[in-house]
Parts: sequence; structure tokens; C-alpha cells
Amino acid sequence: MAESIQQFILNHLNHHSISDTRQLILPGSTTPATDADSQIAILGALNSLLSREMISYDSHDTLSHILTPEGVQISLLGSHEARVWAALPVKGSGTSITPVELKKIIGDEAAKVGQGRAFKNGWITKDGDGLVRAVPSIQDTTQKELREVDSTGTLSTGEKGLADLRKRKLVVQKKGQWFTVQKGPNFSTSTAKPETDLTVDMLTSGAWKSAHFKKYNFEAEGIYPNGGALHPLLKVREEMRNIFLEMGFAEMPTSSFVESGFWCFDALFVPQQHPAREMQDTFYLSDPVKSLSPPHDYYERVSRVHEHGGYGSVGYRAPWSDAESHKLLLRTHTTASSAHMLYKLAARCRGEVSKDGEEYNASPTSGPIERKEGLEDDGFRPAKLFSIDRVFRNETMDATHLAEFHQVEGVVADRGLTLADLIGFMRVFFRKMGIENLRFKPAYNPYTEPSLEIFAFHPMLNKWVEVGNSGMFRPEMLEPMGFPKDVHVHGWGISLERPTMIRYGINNIRTLVGHKVPIESVEKSPAVRF
Ligand code: PHE
Repeated sequence: MAESIQQFILNHLNHHSISDTRQLILPGSTTPATDADSQIAILGALNSLLSREMISYDSHDTLSHILTPEGVQISLLGSHEARVWAALPVKGSGTSITPVELKKIIGDEAAKVGQGRAFKNGWITKDGDGLVRAVPSIQDTTQKELREVDSTGTLSTGEKGLADLRKRKLVVQKKGQWFTVQKGPNFSTSTAKPETDLTVDMLTSGAWKSAHFKKYNFEAEGIYPNGGALHPLLKVREEMRNIFLEMGFAEMPTSSFVESGFWCFDALFVPQQHPAREMQDTFYLSDPVKSLSPPHDYYERVSRVHEHGGYGSVGYRAPWSDAESHKLLLRTHTTASSAHMLYKLAARCRGEVSKDGEEYNASPTSGPIERKEGLEDDGFRPAKLFSIDRVFRNETMDATHLAEFHQVEGVVADRGLTLADLIGFMRVFFRKMGIENLRFKPAYNPYTEPSLEIFAFHPMLNKWVEVGNSGMFRPEMLEPMGFPKDVHVHGWGISLERPTMIRYGINNIRTLVGHKVPIESVEKSPAVRF
């Protein structure tokens, strides 16, 4: 229908402009479109044509009257007073009708309202107990007026009569619109929709040359984006971070994915020939070929302890390789970041402090170092540090392993820490994650002694699973940094992926990380509370 009104308007405009849309006789109709509904249909068609600049139009407001439901009833059946008159017998016929009988004939409402008006008009009179007509004929002006309003929207007798009908709630005012219409810049008699896309077909057939394209609407608001959702790994990370923070830990900076062999391995007393350094475990960078040099004195102390020993150790007694130490690689563990931070923490013990005094959480490369005069203590300050970030290993990928994953790592440095502190700490830390049942198994790390693997009982799997690796950092690592002998540091690392997979019942890492992750699972994964 809308389409055909559009076409009708265009055909009409082709010959002459439209001065009043109320005079149009629309397709399928035989009378002019004076009613409000027709004008609304016309407005829809006009707006559609206007958006394509095929026409332009001006609108004009009107105020007309329409009948209320009661008005409609009266225009059909007559006014109450007329119905009263019609129901009564002629005077002198020997019969009359009582008010009670009248109610039965024309209804309570009409009888009640109509009697008063009929008396006032002199149309009826009393005859004994009953009522009879007082005049032989009447003019039902109300019905006549309402019929006129119904067909024309107004009264030829003027506003006074309309005001009276409004007061009697038989008519109400209604706003309307009508339009004058002219041709627009894109006028044509064809309503073919403009093209919204330039297609390959158009290009090959050449149809694009004559096609009429829809204009871009730069005011359009676009599709409102859905709210984002935190990935399950990030939800678990947030929970872990909260546990660390409530235990008084500070977060370490971990932004450098690329480390040198020195910080990732040498500083940790990992032998230069250690299998973990081999190509199959570590991703090395080919460009740039060489890392910047670590602080000179520290580098000397580290290379010496590797090659010749010291601090109670015999060392590895293997030739030291500068090249190995300066290789660039993707860090294989966040313990590389911990090494940077511990080295910074020991700056006071080495008699060095950063210029602004206390700032040990700043980036590891910050600030020149100067000797502090008149140091009273050995400068050591205890520290609890954590990090949660990405590490990389050249592993064969399977259902539970990828070449990159996240490590959750913590280190605690204080005087006289023992293995009992580490174990006690682990129990508290894991209890906060809802894991009560822990077992510790002796293990080996080049940088910790003793070292412990941490196992937790998994009620769903009904077996003990490894959840982390930990240990007391070796003197060969801590003393070259400058820590006093009685300062002990324990540390541990756990994966972020493993608890997340267990928490969400995911058994293939590819549904957690990578391009096969179902977005819906990210959007719908519930919040985590340990
Ligand atoms: N770096 C160890 C790992 O990658 C975790 C660890 C951190 C162990 C600190 C001991 C001390 O598994």
C-alpha cells in the first residue's frame, strides 16, 4: 500500500504539484483523503520519498473535531430527548407511559437525561401518572450536528455549537496535518529503491554507471555494541591478585616479555649448559643478536660463581660464555622478573640506593645509583612481591599445553626464613583459593635448595595433582646480588591456566586460549570466588 501511494504521488507530481493532500483521491478509494488516517499514510510515503530527495513538502496543521463513543451512539440512534419523545404516545390517544416503563424501553441513562431536556424543549408533557408527546414533530438538532461533525470535522454554524457539543462530551478536538508537495532534486516517476552496495556484478556488467546510489547517512547511530566480558583467565587472575594484595604483597613490573640469558638463567644460577636453555625449550631471538650488558660488578660476581664458585659453593667449573649470557629470548618463567626485583631490593645492602630513596618497585632499569654515606644498618628491608603474567616455552602443543601460558609467582624476602615458613605460607595461600589438602614433594630447581613440588588433592579427579613449584633461593643467586647471609628468600610459581581449567571444567586448553575459543563461553562464564 505504502509503495503504491508513493507511486501515486510521483505520477501526480509529474503533471502538477500538489497544493493540498486532502484533495487527493488515493488508489482504492472513491472519496478525497480528508480523514486523519489517510493523511498519516500519505505522510509515511512523503517521508520515504523525501529521504531520497525525490520530493519536498510543507506540512500544515489542522484542528478538527471527532465524535466521542457517546457522540457516535447519538448520531446513530438520536439524542436522548429525541428518543424519549419517540417512545411516547401522542397526546389524547388515551394511553401514556410511566417513567418506569420508559426506562425499560430506552434504557436508564437515556430516559434519565432525555426526560429533563425533552421537558425543557417542550416536547413532552405529563398526562395523569404517565408521559405523552406535547408536539406532533421535533427537530433533533444534536443528532444533525453530530452527523455533520462526523463527515466534515466541523460545524457550518460555527464555534458556538462545537463548544456546546464539546461541553456535553459528544465531540473532542483532534489535531491533524495536511501537506503541499513539490518535486525534489532527484524527482523521477520510478520508485525503484536506490542501491546500497557497489557489487562485483555491477562492476562487471557496467550497471554501476547508471545505478542510483543511496547517500551515506553520517548521522546514523550505528549498532550499539554488546557489553564486553572478562575472559575466564582474567577472572581467575583478578581473584589471585586479590589474595596477594590482602596478604600484603606488592605487584612486580612484568612488562618485558623479552629477557636476556643473563636475567632469565645466569642470575638464577642456572648452568649455561642446562637442558632448559636448549632451543627445544626456549625461544631465542635472532634480531637483535645481543642484549644490553647487565651492571658490570654484578655480572662479574655472577660469572665468577658459575665458573669458580664462592659463597660456600664450588660453582659449575665450566667455562663462562658471554655470548650465552647476552642471548635474547622470550622469558621462560616470571622468575626472570623476580630476579630483577630482588637485585633492586638488594641495592641498599650493596650500599646503593636509588636517588629517591625507597622506590624498589620502579622499573628495573630506573635511575643512576649512588653510594649512601653513613649507613647504620645493612640496608635490608623485607619484601613480599608477586606477579601474574605470560611466559613462553617451545613445547609440543597438546590438549593441556600451549607455547605460551601464564605464571603466578610470589617471592618473600626476610631474615632467617626457613622451609617451614615456605610450607606454612603455602598452606595459607592455597587455603584462600579453597585448596585445603596439600602435599609437598622434594624436587630440583637450579636456583632453589631445597625445592618442593606442591600437590593438591583434586576431589573431582579424585587424585593428587601438581599445582606448583617452589623453593628457597640458593645463596649462589642471592649473595652475588648483595643480600646479607641471613636474608633468605622463598619463592613459588603456579600456572594460571590449570586452576582456571579446573574451575570451569575445561579439558582442552584450546577452548580457553586461541582462535577456537567460543565467544559465548567467555561471555557466559560465571564470576570466580575462591
Ligand atoms: N620458576 C619456577 C617455574 O617456572 C617456579 C618457581 C619460582 C620455583 C620461584 C621456585 C621459586 O616453575
